[in-house]
Amino acid sequence: MKIAITGKGGVGKTTLAALLAQAYADMGRQVLAVDADPSPCLAGALGFPDLLRADLRPIAEMDDLIYERTGARPGTVGGFFTINPRVDDIPERFSVSNRGVRLLEMGAVDIGGSGCICPESAMLKTLFTHLLFRKDDVLVLDMYAGVEHLGRATVDFVDAMIVVVEPTRRSLGTAAQIKKLAEDIGLTRLWLVGNKVRDDEEATFLQAETPGLPVLGLLPADLAVQEADRLGIAVYDHVPALNQEAQQIANLLLEKATSQQ
Ligand SMILES: Nc1ncnc2c1ncn2[C@@H]1O[C@H](COP(=O)(O)OP(=O)(O)OP(=O)(O)O)[C@@H](O)[C@H]1O
Ligand SMILES: [Mg+2]
Repeated sequence: MKIAITGKGGVGKTTLAALLAQAYADMGRQVLAVDADPSPCLAGALGFPDLLRADLRPIAEMDDLIYERTGARPGTVGGFFTINPRVDDIPERFSVSNRGVRLLEMGAVDIGGSGCICPESAMLKTLFTHLLFRKDDVLVLDMYAGVEHLGRATVDFVDAMIVVVEPTRRSLGTAAQIKKLAEDIGLTRLWLVGNKVRDDEEATFLQAETPGLPVLGLLPADLAVQEADRLGIAVYDHVPALNQEAQQIANLLLEKATSQQ
């Protein structure tokens, strides 16, 4: 199952990605979690030990690898380079694994086609498509804020796109934008997850104002989330309320995403 997590900046995409990845791993599934943020922080949210994190570096920053695979140095404009470099060995070679979750840091991905035609974007686009094609048991993609990454491959291979929102009109506005973009390219497997919900009033607001997207679940606001970050441990281990809700969301997704296929 392939799950892409998106939404406005700071709403809790990485927190939810980490929760879902660990929830599936604890169900015995093989999980590949992909951090596609220009400044990666999924390793921290998953509570990966420092020793493992020291081995991680975003693919987007591996200049020598990009050169080796595409034939040109990152930053090169014009000239010749391979637009479909070999990437099949990358997920295994450059990821680290902890408690059943394999984590790959991609770095910034410009999938929308508007960006530069340069070796690094060729590399990342090919890798992104490869990840969507692969037969991983569970793939969790922590996308960066914004909607530019919604491309053709996303429509064909993503089983569920989750839009994370806070109980604010602004984050719901972004959700509406993402829905529109998704519809434009034919992606219908879209769900909403509310985060940082403080009380019933906020829960009701989210349910009432959703831009026509089914709500999969609501994660409560909990100061222990920040505490987990400060202590360097996973929210999954430190905050029972979020752990429980995430497990429910993980199970619901298994039912809903597979029943639509
Ligand atoms: N349920 C919650 N309760 C309290 N704080 C939360 C909750 N969820 C997330 N946070 C806090 O909100 C901040 C943003 O969370 P997170 O990094 O998961 O969001 P994001 O959408 O991935 O952000 P970005 O767009 O920068 O990648 C973090 O400081 C996190 O600790
Ligand atoms: Mg994030």
